[in-house]
Amino acid sequence: MAGNITLTIIKPEAVAHAYTGDILRIISAAGFTIAALKLTRMSHAQAAGFYKVHLEKPFYRELVEFMASGPIVAAILQKENAVEEYRKLIGLTDPAKAPAGTIRQLFGETIRRNAVHGSDSDVNALKEAGYFFQVWERFDRDGNFLEPEEQVG
Ligand code: CMP
Repeated sequence: MAGNITLTIIKPEAVAHAYTGDILRIISAAGFTIAALKLTRMSHAQAAGFYKVHLEKPFYRELVEFMASGPIVAAILQKENAVEEYRKLIGLTDPAKAPAGTIRQLFGETIRRNAVHGSDSDVNALKEAGYFFQVWERFDRDGNFLEPEEQVG
């Protein structure tokens, strides 16, 4: 069964360009509940850990440096089938190939500076959510703490 949460990061260049409000508005309008939200900055070590699945990729080092280069906004988004639905909303990794109207097409600059991250699987969504948020920092649409069963679908 598909999970109900995904983890997004509004990346440093999008935060610096003050796109955060516009991006969150699009996310809300698409029917996602913002279950957790914070403005933060990853250390180099945190960014390296977050992206360790890409360790062997040629772009890994620059990706880590970029993601640690300034403040980001991290959020847990809740919706049925959240991972897949959010990937549709943000579009392909390369903004030049992302469909019109998607977040990456609207706000991304390059494949690295592509405005937002979105989890690529339910397992990773849970892991990535744990990277930024404690269980008591997650809320459902009624304002109650988000229970584990509300996250796995
Ligand atoms: P994200 O969804 O955050 O997950 C991994 C990131 O690696 C991806 O978005 C891109 O920003 C980046 N990335 C993927 N492929 C490339 C590439 N070929 N060159 C540079 N960066 C890349």
